[in-house]
Amino acid sequence: MKAVRSFAKWCGGLLVFVASGAALADDDAPSQATAWLGPSAMAVSADGQMLFVCLSDARQLAIVDLPNAKAIRRVRTPAEPTGLALCRDGRRVWVTCAAVASSVLEIDAASGQTLASFPAGHTATAPVLSPDGQRLYVCNRFDHDVSVLDLAQRRELTRVAAVREPVAAAVSPDGKELWVANLLQAGSANRFGVLAAAAVVTVADTATFQTAEIRLVTGSTSVRGLAFTPDGRYVLLAHLVARYHMPTIRVDSGWMNSNALTVIDVRRREVLNTVLLDDILEGSANPWGVASTADGLWICVSHAGTGELSVIDAPVFLSMLREVPLVAFSNAAFFDGGSDGYSLDNDGENVVNVPGFLGGMRRRVRLPGVGPRSLAVWGSQVYVAEYFSDSIAVVTMTDQEALPVRSLPLGPQPQWNEVRRGEVLFHDGRVCLESWQSCASCHPDGRADALNWDLLNDGEGNPKNTLSLLWSHRTPPCMASGVRPTAESAVRSGFKNILMSERPEAEAAAIDAWLQSLAPLPSPWLVQGRLSPAAERGRALFHSERAGCAKCHPAPLYSDLKPHDVGTRGELDERAAFDTPTLVEAWRTAPYLHDGRYTTVEQLLTEGKHGRASQLSDKEIADLAHFVRSL
Ligand code: HEC
Ligand code: HEC
Repeated sequence: MKAVRSFAKWCGGLLVFVASGAALADDDAPSQATAWLGPSAMAVSADGQMLFVCLSDARQLAIVDLPNAKAIRRVRTPAEPTGLALCRDGRRVWVTCAAVASSVLEIDAASGQTLASFPAGHTATAPVLSPDGQRLYVCNRFDHDVSVLDLAQRRELTRVAAVREPVAAAVSPDGKELWVANLLQAGSANRFGVLAAAAVVTVADTATFQTAEIRLVTGSTSVRGLAFTPDGRYVLLAHLVARYHMPTIRVDSGWMNSNALTVIDVRRREVLNTVLLDDILEGSANPWGVASTADGLWICVSHAGTGELSVIDAPVFLSMLREVPLVAFSNAAFFDGGSDGYSLDNDGENVVNVPGFLGGMRRRVRLPGVGPRSLAVWGSQVYVAEYFSDSIAVVTMTDQEALPVRSLPLGPQPQWNEVRRGEVLFHDGRVCLESWQSCASCHPDGRADALNWDLLNDGEGNPKNTLSLLWSHRTPPCMASGVRPTAESAVRSGFKNILMSERPEAEAAAIDAWLQSLAPLPSPWLVQGRLSPAAERGRALFHSERAGCAKCHPAPLYSDLKPHDVGTRGELDERAAFDTPTLVEAWRTAPYLHDGRYTTVEQLLTEGKHGRASQLSDKEIADLAHFVRSL
C-alpha cells in the first residue's frame, strides 16, 4: 500500500493538465470521419510521459504529452483505429486500422510518421506486443483468427485460429502464451447442460501455435476485456453472464443479464471463479475494459453501461477466491442456494450467482464521461477512454474511500445529433431499472448475442434466438413470430418489457434513428469486394426456380416480409409460421433459425432441408451457403 501512496503523490504533479480542445492540433480530417472523436483504445508509455489514444470515429491517433500537455499531435489513420500497442521505450506504436482488409501501422511516436504498414484480416483489433518486442499479435475479429506478425522481418508468420470474434488479447509476462477473448459463443443456442451456450477463451502456445479453449460459465457473453495480473498467475475477463434459461419476467437481481469478472488460473487453465460486479440493488451494466495496476494491488473494470470504474482490492479479492473453491456452476443452479436464493453456502458454489459478493472489496467510482471502455494503467494512474464524451477519465488509486478523478477532454464537448444520442442510449444501462443491462447487452453493436431468450411477447416457454437489428426498420414485422408490427413498436416494448422502465418517447425515437443508420458490413467471404466463383454459382442457384430461395428471400432485402411455415416448428413452439428473416449479414448472425439450432448455413440446408435444398447436390449446397455468407 505504501508504494501506491507515494506513486499517487508523485503522479499528482503530473495531473495538472486539463487539455482543452483548443490545444489539439486539428489535422484536416479524412472525409469518412464523423464529428465525434470516439476514443477507444489507449496506451501509456513506459515512462508515463505520453498517452496514445485511438480516436475511432475521427480516424486519428492522438498523442498526448502528459507532463507538458501542449505537445499534442493527431495522426490520421487510413481506417478506423481500433487498438494500439506500444514498444517499451515508447518510440514506436502499432495501430490496428479496421477494415475488410485491415492494416497495422507502425508509427514513430515522436514525429507521427508511418514507418511501416502490415496487412491484417477483417476488422483488426487488440494488437499485443510480445515481451521481447519481436512480434505483434493482432486479432482479426471477423476472420475469427489472430495474425502473428514478425516485426523485424516485416511479415506475417502465421494465423492462429480463434473461435468467434476475438476482440481482446494479452500475452503472458514470459511471452509463452497468447490469451484471446472471443466475444460470443459459437455453438447452437438451444442446448443444455455441458453443451449450453458459453463464450470461450482461446490460449495459444506462442512457440507451436497450438491452441486450447477454456469454456467460461454458462451464459458468458460479450467478453470485451482480458488482462493478466502482473505476476502472470491469473487472467481476468470482463463479460456478461446471460441468464438466458430464465423466462424474462424480471430484470432485477441479474435475472436476465448479470455483469461479471472471471478469474482464470493460468497454470491450471481453469476458471478459478466468476464473480458478479453487480450490487444487490444496483447492476453494473456492460463491463468492458479490465486491467491490473503493475504493483498488483488493484484490479479495475470499466462499466460502459453505467459510466463507472470498479476498483477492486486485488490481494483480498484473489485470496478470497482461492479460499472458496468453485464447486459447480450452471444456470440451472441459479437461485438454488437458500431461501432467498442468494445465500452463499460458503463452498463457493453460488459465487457466480451472488450480486454484492464484492462488498467491501470494491469501490464503484462514478466517472465524469459517458461510455467508458478501454483502460490504460501507469503507476497508480488509471486512464479510462470515455467513448461517447470524447474524453479520458484519470483515476488515481489510493486507499481513500473517494478516489480522485479528473477529466481530460480530447476536444470540445461533443454536440450529439439524434443518431448519436440513440447510439448512446442503446449502450446505456442506466435507462434500465437498477442499471442491470442495456439494449447492447443482448444486441452487441446493434447485432445479436447468439443466445436464445424467452421474451414474453409471444408467450412463455418458447425461447427465441436474438435477432440482429440491422435493417429491422426496413423489414417489418418484427420478432420471429412477427408479433410486433414494426421495429418502432419493438424498440418501445424493449424499454418497457426488457429494461422494465418507462422512458420518454424522444429516447425511443433516437434509438430508431441510430438503428436505421446501421449499414451492413462487407462479408469476409467476399474476395476484394466481389462474390467468389463459388458464391457466383450460389447466387445463380439462389435465384433459380430449382432452389427457390429468392421466392421468400428476394433481393434487395432478402426477405419477402411474410411469415411462412417452412417446417421449422420445434416442440416448444406455439406456431409453425415464422417471419422470413433478411439474409444480409447472415455471415455474422449464427446460430440460425428462430431457436438458434443450427451453427452453419450448410447445416440448415442439409439437416434442415430448408427450401428445396433436399433436391440439391452437396456441391450446390456448398455454393449456395457460400453465397448466403457473402451477403
Ligand atoms: C435480454 C436480451 C435483450 C435485450 C436486453 C434487448 N433485446 Fe431486443 N431482442 C431480443 C431477442 C431475443 C429478440 C428476438 C425475439 C423474437 O424473435 O421473438 C429481440 C428483438 C428485437 C427487435 C426486433 C428485431 C427484428 O428485426 O425483428 C428489436 C427492434 C429490438 N429487439 C430492439 C431492442 C431494443 C431497442 C432494446 C433496448 C431497449 C432491446 N432490444 C433489448 C433480446 C433482447
Ligand atoms: C417458403 C419460404 C422460404 C423459402 C423458399 C426459403 N426460405 Fe429461408 N427462411 C424462411 C423462413 C420463414 C425462415 C425463418 C425460419 C425460422 O426461423 O424457423 C428462413 C430462414 C433462413 C435462414 C436462416 C436465417 C437466420 O438468420 O436464422 C437462411 C440462411 C435461409 N433461410 C436461407 C435460405 C436459402 C438458401 C433458401 C433456398 C434454398 C431458402 N432460405 C428458402 C423462408 C424461406
